[in-house]
Amino acid sequence: MATMRAAQFARYQQEIFRAGTAGNRPPFPLEPEALVESARRQMGPGPFAYVEGPASSGATMRANREAFDQWRIVPRMLTGSTVRYLETTVLGTPMPAPLLAAPVGVQSIVHPDGELATARACAALGVPMVLSTMSSYSIEAVAEANGAGPRWFQLYRPNDDELTASLLERARLAGFTVLVVTLDTMSLAWRPAIVDQAYLPMLRGVGNAVLFSDPVFRAGLAKPPEQDLAAAVARWDELLGNAGQRWPDLRLLRDRWPGPIILKGIQHPDDARQAVAHGMDGVVVSNHGGRQVDGAIGALDALPGIVDAVGGEAAVLYDSGVRTGADVFKALALGAEAVLVGRPYAYGLGHAGESGVRHVLRGLLADFELTVGLAGHTRVADLDRGSLREHRPQ
Ligand code: FNR
Repeated sequence: MATMRAAQFARYQQEIFRAGTAGNRPPFPLEPEALVESARRQMGPGPFAYVEGPASSGATMRANREAFDQWRIVPRMLTGSTVRYLETTVLGTPMPAPLLAAPVGVQSIVHPDGELATARACAALGVPMVLSTMSSYSIEAVAEANGAGPRWFQLYRPNDDELTASLLERARLAGFTVLVVTLDTMSLAWRPAIVDQAYLPMLRGVGNAVLFSDPVFRAGLAKPPEQDLAAAVARWDELLGNAGQRWPDLRLLRDRWPGPIILKGIQHPDDARQAVAHGMDGVVVSNHGGRQVDGAIGALDALPGIVDAVGGEAAVLYDSGVRTGADVFKALALGAEAVLVGRPYAYGLGHAGESGVRHVLRGLLADFELTVGLAGHTRVADLDRGSLREHRPQ
């Protein structure tokens, strides 16, 4: 087993303060709401709407934040927490802290380097990147940019088994070690922010690179996408509308993918049990950042029940609404093995490409390390429900 290394993320704050003495300020704000507002000003209206835009009324996105507010950390004193050990290994992937970059599609709408920049930023920090099926660069190009960095592949399963098998084989050969199968987005929800902009980048040929670069996909076209974009986009759209899938259909993935598989978008303990019964290695408790079912529970509300149902048998990860170190702390204390973060790093990318992603991730990691230490803990494994108290507003 790898030796645990003491985390050094908190030093980032010192680095920033020191740079401040020479008159240097960070390139954009990291306070969560200020980051969103800055991105709103900095990105075009279509791309901002695509990244931020929740389903319908936005109630689920708000519920994600409210769910975090219902748990409060109970700090402990004089525990001698001088160094923090945040390193962990999830499904065979060692990581410096239990944090991953969530699969976020079409990243080139916010910055031309898109997923390549994210791949480089993640590799520099050792943070695992989860690459989306909706990537604006091919699986192989992102793997190259990610180099020796840890990487997982997120699958939107196409409605064609040969193509699915081809994607899995490419991901495996390109060094992606865990397959993340997203179940909550078989079709796009009603998202008024992008409806109002009449803006879906994939229909404009952005975010289709994974399929467009696939030999099986290309073999099914009369002309390659470079010669007939409209036909390629239409075929892409046809293949990714795959709402008829059922639990037994997971068998093909189990047979074709040699490594761990986790299902993303699980919110009910019975679905988590089904995942285990169908040979899956884990779940990501997630509501897609409130982008799919409007009026749904906050994803964190689902976490304890799912941990109780399958924790110990399967890896339970969490995403949706993670914005601060305290949020990471709370999700881990409620039983998640690791968390994924989505929009914040996309905003970092939009502001400053690779260095913007690094700034966001380093900030979140520093905040997390400081929170663990200030709450009196030394190791992530020590966090449990006893580290929190439930807060019920009267
Ligand atoms: C996403 N998400 C996502 N998930 C996925 O499995 N495949 C994908 O292609 C995408 N694409 C995507 C694009 C954008 C712009 C966003 C913001 C999100 C969902 C993502 O993985 C994650 O579940 C949420 O982003 C988590 O919520 P927060 O951190 O954004 O609140």
